[in-house]
Amino acid sequence: MIVVGNLKTYMTYKDIIEYKDNIPDDVIVCPTSLYIPYFLNHKYEIGIQDISCHDLGAHTGDICALQAKEFGIKYALIGHSERRNKETDDEINKKILKSLENNLKVILCVGENKGEDLKSKLQYQLLNDLKGVTNLDNVIIAYEPIWCIGTGVTPTNLQIEDTINFIQTIIQTNFKGNAKILYGGSVDKNNINTLKQIDNIAGFLIGKASTDYKYLKEIVDSLR
Ligand code: 13P
Repeated sequence: MIVVGNLKTYMTYKDIIEYKDNIPDDVIVCPTSLYIPYFLNHKYEIGIQDISCHDLGAHTGDICALQAKEFGIKYALIGHSERRNKETDDEINKKILKSLENNLKVILCVGENKGEDLKSKLQYQLLNDLKGVTNLDNVIIAYEPIWCIGTGVTPTNLQIEDTINFIQTIIQTNFKGNAKILYGGSVDKNNINTLKQIDNIAGFLIGKASTDYKYLKEIVDSLR
């Protein structure tokens, strides 16, 4: 199973000193970009929490896909709900295309807010964000319902399984290749044994619970 830790902006430099040397080998870690150099040269793989929709050029504050790839970063997390209010689906689409062009794998986050129609929201995001992607083999899709992020609430296994089936139907009908599908939102060591029983799940995208390496190791161990 794939385990991705999204460290968001949770940790200081002091926090990462011990953390970076104690993460399980077989995870993908997405640190705050500033700290990525300290996470390189370990066995685990590195993802960046966002990527520019531009190439090299005059784009203050951006990190472009070529720069990330050159630095040893393997994945770009794109379209996280904590960023989606600052960007359009068109920009998300450009970020995905730029990443794939530069051989960065993509982790695309999709998900609905409370009160939104799940299926139409996911269909809109998938069709628009992945427009022009010829093959999904290097794309991971993370289903993250917004109402479950940082809330301690998760959907039922059956709800997640249905949603993953729905995502699979959309991508099989509209795209070539196979995208693995993860679940994210309040995953922790207490619910992982329940969530891992979901039939069609390829792994988990974990926020807060991934910022403690002991806690992360417990989660990873329960999946092995
Ligand atoms: P939490 O695990 O803290 O709910 O965050 C989920 C998330 O947003 C991962 O990208």
